Amino acid sequence: MNVVIDWDDLHAKAIEATTHSYAPYSKLHVGAAAITTDGRVLQGCNVENASYGLGSCAEIGLVGQLHMTGGGRLAALVAVAGTGEVLTPCGRCRQILMEQGGPDLLVQGVNGPRPMRELLPDWFGPEDLPAR
Ligand code: THU
Repeated sequence: MNVVIDWDDLHAKAIEATTHSYAPYSKLHVGAAAITTDGRVLQGCNVENASYGLGSCAEIGLVGQLHMTGGGRLAALVAVAGTGEVLTPCGRCRQILMEQGGPDLLVQGVNGPRPMRELLPDWFGPEDLPAR
């Protein structure tokens, strides 16, 4: 991976993404920003629903943007609350992010960036399907 990761830029773009969040129920406005291995910067925000369980995390919107803009692989990601406080992705999002970035994807955490292999050890992935 040759891409230069500007963590401050990703943090700023994640905060900007929170301004698009639709979170009338939890009132937790989440934004995510990521850079791909070919240098594209993507954003996403959470979108909630009156049927609470149908709400969608910011990371899911971002993965939609990944594929809408040509696909590829995620290299680094930051998720934040509207306050700018870093949020570590939820369990479902870790599974989704692992498939889109792999074990080397770096995710910002409260104690600095960590690779997905640490956030989701022993993950279930595409290679687990054919053998079963
Ligand atoms: N949320 C995200 O957008 N990403 C996460 O990784 C954790 C949670 C959203 C979902 C919901 O709209 C709100 O935060 C409260 O759980």
